[in-house]
Amino acid sequence: MAKNRTVFFCQNCGYESAKWMGQCPACRQWNTFVEEPVTKTASGRQTSRTASKQPSKLSGIQTEKEERIKTGIDELDRVLGGGIVPGSMILVGGDPGIGKSTLLLQVCQKLSAQHRKIFYISGEESLGQIKLRADRIGRFEDDVLLLCETDLEAVENVILKERPEMVVIDSIQTMYKNDIGSAPGSVSQVRESTNVLMNIAKTNGITIFIVGHVTKEGVVAGPRVLEHMVDTVLYFEGERHAAYRLLRSVKNRFGSTNEMGVFEMAGEGLKEVKDPSKYMLSGRPENASGSVVTCVMEGTRPMMVEVQALVCRTNFNMPRRTAAGMDYNRVNLLMAVVEKRLGISLGSCDAYVNIAGGVRINDPSIDLAVVCAILSSYKNIPVSDRLMVFGEVGLVGEVRAVRQAQLCIREGEKLGFDRCILPKANMDPQMSASKMLLQGVENLQDIYKILTAQ
Ligand code: TYD
Ligand code: MG
Repeated sequence: MAKNRTVFFCQNCGYESAKWMGQCPACRQWNTFVEEPVTKTASGRQTSRTASKQPSKLSGIQTEKEERIKTGIDELDRVLGGGIVPGSMILVGGDPGIGKSTLLLQVCQKLSAQHRKIFYISGEESLGQIKLRADRIGRFEDDVLLLCETDLEAVENVILKERPEMVVIDSIQTMYKNDIGSAPGSVSQVRESTNVLMNIAKTNGITIFIVGHVTKEGVVAGPRVLEHMVDTVLYFEGERHAAYRLLRSVKNRFGSTNEMGVFEMAGEGLKEVKDPSKYMLSGRPENASGSVVTCVMEGTRPMMVEVQALVCRTNFNMPRRTAAGMDYNRVNLLMAVVEKRLGISLGSCDAYVNIAGGVRINDPSIDLAVVCAILSSYKNIPVSDRLMVFGEVGLVGEVRAVRQAQLCIREGEKLGFDRCILPKANMDPQMSASKMLLQGVENLQDIYKILTAQ
């Protein structure tokens, strides 16, 4: 008889180890290993090897035209790559309280209005609580089936009996399978539950949305374990105290991962923000030093954001540097380039850089605006609030071209900007038709001259 074996799993990333370790070698988190019994069915080793399959020729495979279900929530449809692919499995991750349940209930509302059979399974809330939330969201034209259940086998039976078109599981961490010894939310439970649901989705063509919580403490298995298994991973992020929420896709088998959806949490659920630029720039100071507006491409859509910098004399031996909304190392790098190429000594200055609005931007086309904001604050020269700046800065102090400059310029025009500083390499004759005054720069000296001369 096989011995009952136990294995240690990192609750953060799912790393498996035969013995306990203090630090996970994969994700470097401390104290995340928990002992879990391993049963025969765990870890998805269920596939039968006896069924012999013949390989098929690529050219001989017939595909039907991909059909997508539009939810009617444009911001979500775009992030999904144009709608939901039937039979796919979508993970929605995010901090507790960010709005995952709200978003999915709104999806249920929209899809049930299209007379689709929708199933909402909650392991966290009572029927009454779901009803209260539904009342806040608004009227449901058609009904949604609700179930409060955490036992996966019961869930499986009900789904197979009812055969809905779409199922929401809120959340995967509350689901458990009886024959696995470990607690709900542990890596083996989460992995096994996802496996079972995945099987249901693929064999019956049922779309399944699963909610996954992210906790830093590593008490509940992070959805990292699931990311490899599902088709699409969406992350809901944003400051808890700010009203807006950003929905990003980090993995999508059926679309691009660059797209971002913007929502606002209102009294009656999540509202789409169709024009994020206007939203991001609201409340901006006028003609203040250290504030510069830039434009970045978020997928196929340009978005204007304000970069702020505060540079002041340090009171410490070591200057303080902070970066909110962008990479800290990138800020240090840009400051080093400014020091070296412009001969400005920033070594005795504290510097705080912030992207207003709480978004996180990884696009290097923001570099030039960061440099401008730093220079503007250091020199105490206000930058016109009708000026926008974009471009990537290299280590030699050169300003490099960015993609889709034309779209960024058009977005600026739309919002009433009248001047734009951009990489010279992006200037092309077509742009002369622009209503804006365009100034191409080649390196940091150029931008320094423009800033100090204005
Ligand atoms: P919820 O969807 O429960 O978050 P999650 O499932 O990610 O944990 O949303 C929780 C927050 O949203 C809660 O603080 C209340 C707020 N909220 C609103 O502000 N307006 C609304 O219409 C709804 C439904 C929720
Ligand atoms: Mg919830």
